[in-house]
Amino acid sequence: MVKKIVCVVGTRPEGIKMAPLIHALRRKRFAVTVLSTGQHLHMLHQALHFFDIRADVNLSIMEKQQTLDGITVKVLKGVGDFLDRHPQDLALVHGDTTTTMASALAAFYRRIPVGHVEAGLRSGDMSSPFPEEANRALTDRLASLWFAPTERAAANLRGEGLPVTGNTMSVTGNTVIDALKIALAKKHDLCEELAGLQSFTGPLILMTSHRRESWGEPLESICGAVTDILNRNDEVRVLIPLHKNPSVRGVIKRHLGENERVILSEPLDYPDFVWAMKRSSLILSDSGGVQEESAELKVPLLVMRSTSERPEALEAGTATLVGTERSTIADTAFRILIDEAFRNSFLNRGANPFGSGDASERISDMILKFFSL
Ligand code: UD1
Ligand code: UDP
Repeated sequence: MVKKIVCVVGTRPEGIKMAPLIHALRRKRFAVTVLSTGQHLHMLHQALHFFDIRADVNLSIMEKQQTLDGITVKVLKGVGDFLDRHPQDLALVHGDTTTTMASALAAFYRRIPVGHVEAGLRSGDMSSPFPEEANRALTDRLASLWFAPTERAAANLRGEGLPVTGNTMSVTGNTVIDALKIALAKKHDLCEELAGLQSFTGPLILMTSHRRESWGEPLESICGAVTDILNRNDEVRVLIPLHKNPSVRGVIKRHLGENERVILSEPLDYPDFVWAMKRSSLILSDSGGVQEESAELKVPLLVMRSTSERPEALEAGTATLVGTERSTIADTAFRILIDEAFRNSFLNRGANPFGSGDASERISDMILKFFSL
């Protein structure tokens, strides 16, 4: 009997990180349904499109300024209804979004086993990142299969007393490295904003910000830091692919929209964003996935957060926590631009702690074993 697996995705990072696994499962002849909750409308479609994946089912739940309760209720009901009509042998969810947690709960309520991809990440602080730390811990509690990207993540799961065994948990690496390698190998034409940067030979800084706990004053401070960097170095240009969230776009546009050395763009297609990361002298970001990708690309990353659930990037030296304080961000960034020894200290010379690009194969092999196939 062919086993039925639903792969749930809701936001951009889930799309990018589940895509290589969806392909691997299809190669292994599982009957895969891609269910999009549509928590992100445009940004998820954009991510899946690059990997030639179309959602088989789309709940289209996104609303302007959506609330955590609103997302939870709609995902729980929508995924639940789908599972009632189309029972599955396994539900795969990824990471720590509200789509992840609510979908896992819908499957759990129907006694459908849940596999958690990117299981075991912990910052240790329930308020940072918020609400992701709770989402990932709750999802791990509901899961029956845990795909831990690193040894540290596996140790977190064991430490919480979850019923993990050699058959139900494995250290797999992170599927984002699989995705990154696909993007690096594929030829593509750069979008207009980036094509314009090809002739620019000076220092480029890439900046992204979207975390809920940064909305308001911290984001104002981040924009102030970017202004300070631009004022202290008249060569530098800053590329900011704006997240679609209006709470983020408005503030960044107001502070930086008029500066001619700032390039504000819409969210970039994945290969364009990968090009931008590679081209940059340094990255300022509060993103989770960028911490893993910058470790592979060996580009210094200043993590504009107070904690990280990815301590492996900090230990490898490719990233450092700078918080959201204006002068700390500006001073550290400025030093990277002018001090070569300091910049070189960010270069990870060892293996990427997030894996070597075979996470999807490992996860799909483990699922074959789970079904004793
Ligand atoms: C969500 C996840 C976060 C993840 C991030 C990745 C939750 C609670 N948050 O945060 O963990 O790191 O995605 O980017 O699950 N919007 C659009 N078009 C889009 C996407 C978003 O217009 O394609 C706007 C909408 O107005 C929406 C708002 O952005 O209401 C916020 O989206 P939401 O998914 O609630 O939060 P994110 O900050 O994107
Ligand atoms: N990304 C992208 N285009 C962009 C910005 C980011 O494709 O304009 C990719 C990035 O390479 C990473 C993922 O989106 O793989 C991270 O998404 P985000 O920062 O929104 O979420 P997080 O990882 O913080 O949950």
